[in-house]
Amino acid sequence: MVHYKDIGLVNSRKMFEAAHKGGFAIPAYNFNNMEQLQAIIMGCAESDSPVIIQVSKGARAYANQTLLTYMAEGAVAMAKEAGLQIPVVLHLDHGDSFELAKSCIETGFSSVMIDGSHLPYEENIALTKKVVEYAHAYDVTVEGELGVLAGIEDEVQSEKSHYTNPDEVEDFVSRTGVDSLAISIGTSHGAYKFKLKEGETVPPLRFDILEEIEKRIPGFPIVLHGASSVVQEFVQMINKYGGNLDGAVGIPEDQLRKAATSAVCKINIDSDGRLAMTGKIREVLATKPSEFDPRKYLGPARDALKELIIHKNRNVLGSAGHGKELL
Ligand code: G3H
Ligand code: 13P
Ligand code: ZN
Repeated sequence: MVHYKDIGLVNSRKMFEAAHKGGFAIPAYNFNNMEQLQAIIMGCAESDSPVIIQVSKGARAYANQTLLTYMAEGAVAMAKEAGLQIPVVLHLDHGDSFELAKSCIETGFSSVMIDGSHLPYEENIALTKKVVEYAHAYDVTVEGELGVLAGIEDEVQSEKSHYTNPDEVEDFVSRTGVDSLAISIGTSHGAYKFKLKEGETVPPLRFDILEEIEKRIPGFPIVLHGASSVVQEFVQMINKYGGNLDGAVGIPEDQLRKAATSAVCKINIDSDGRLAMTGKIREVLATKPSEFDPRKYLGPARDALKELIIHKNRNVLGSAGHGKELL
């Protein structure tokens, strides 16, 4: 057993309290490899932002569960060594079973999501409660989910979204004991969040549902998944250098900024990081065809991701400048 406190990590409790009081959101960035982790940690350290580094079931299998623990420990140490220490949460994204959540807790995760949102309501409650009971014994925080987001990725699949029903949230939170709740108000996973016809613009998020939820569970930390903006600069870069991402569109930054000032305390971003890295890698490979040293294309990709993270922390989530105060 590796307990997260022994490798310099923290759980999400204090971060969410501060985010709620301060009108900002904690960034939750997904990673699967060293360059992504370096970019996330140094982007957050340089903008003095608390951070949740998160790993899906597929990412954990890809990176290797033992290596991941050491990578997280190393990430904390790297920021500290640079004189830019920040609080770091290692979080399981979209955990789908008690066994997976338990295994993560035993290998240094300080926070887990148990996503029972596709299950019948009572089954979601039973599974979530079981994970909470285990996790809380180790002071690990737990995120549950009510409502379904659309989108298709390795481990997260749903054709259609179902908005969260505000009538269920109070019962769900009190019966499961979760520490935060992911909701569905119009975001979705991946790079194709809306199918827009000529002349159409992105529909606004359902802030009316969010307000209803806030009324039922005042002050309770809310999580927004599927919150990439699908940054057009990188979509265009990918398309320019041989890719094909026509029609990729995400959540406008002003919508996320507004969400961050509400009860939304955690905002999940994965696709934007993938787009930034892929755009830069394509650009280097296309413009320097004789290059074959991975550092020469992964390095610029890492730099682009770091800059994107600094921008998001400063201008979208508002988390910049709140790192050290939470240590
Ligand atoms: O919401 C899901 C995350 O973007 C992780 O995706 O299962 O492809 O690693 P993944
Ligand atoms: P995006 O696909 O919008 O980046 O969402 C990521 C996410 O919700 C991870 O859980
Ligand atoms: Zn998600």
